[in-house]
Amino acid sequence: MFLSFILLAVLWHETETWGLKNGILHNSIWLEQAAGVYHRESRKGKYQLTLKEAKVLCDYEGGHLAKYKQLESAQRIGFHVCAAGWLAGGKVGYPIVKPGANCGHGKTGVIDYGYRVNKSELWDAYCYNPHAKQCGGVLTDPERIIKSPNYPDEYEHQQICYWHIRLKYKQRIHLRFLEFDVEDDPSCLSDYLEVYDSYDDMLGFVGRFCGNKLPSDIISTGNVMTLKFLSDSSVTAKGFQLLYKVIIIPSAPDSTEKIEDTTHQ
Ligand SMILES: *[C@@H]1O[C@H](CO)[C@@H](O)[C@H](O)[C@H]1NC(C)=O
Repeated sequence: MFLSFILLAVLWHETETWGLKNGILHNSIWLEQAAGVYHRESRKGKYQLTLKEAKVLCDYEGGHLAKYKQLESAQRIGFHVCAAGWLAGGKVGYPIVKPGANCGHGKTGVIDYGYRVNKSELWDAYCYNPHAKQCGGVLTDPERIIKSPNYPDEYEHQQICYWHIRLKYKQRIHLRFLEFDVEDDPSCLSDYLEVYDSYDDMLGFVGRFCGNKLPSDIISTGNVMTLKFLSDSSVTAKGFQLLYKVIIIPSAPDSTEKIEDTTHQ
């Protein structure tokens, strides 16, 4: 009882960080990695994966399709995604924590679509990988270097990395790029690094970077920041290396202040 009270308090707090993106209600990156279970959609977008493709995607990242029980455990600690995905054995379902009319029909728990007869149906995927992913993670150190996978060697194809920097309340984050070399294309559609001045990759978009020009320094408005790196399956490059450092604000920060650099490259 007491434990569930704590969990509710945490969830209540987390609700502020949830948002709708491409028709999917996501919660924080941190919760998305709950219990080693995480949600993946095709790079082509929502509901584009057959069972076979979903398996390949999870295996590629060093894990496998999540079992129903694993998704259930993740749901119990707050994993919530409003998008149905393949599970091991050809089941389809999704985890709902926060009841809503548009998602899960007001129910909570794992919404179960059962074993699908047609394995060519198109859904997302739920992968299970209890070991740290190859790239990304939750970073709480006051200062750290972040490198693209394999750096200084070339990064691999089809990488998806999230770094979530989470410092103490009232601290801010100063990002400085040390080296930058990511496959160049005019709108950075192939490979890119995105920076978000927020807890997730929906709010506070700062910029999308590719090419080999060093992006300017970025300073967060709050104590959290999210970096997302994606590479496609063609050209790769050396990658990037950046340093973040805590900035300690002596007085309360002005909430209306804007980030210094909002340029896209
Ligand atoms: C199986 O699902 C796919 C994708 O939705 C569809 O194109 C195909 O016609 C379905 N096959 C059968 C036998 O219903």
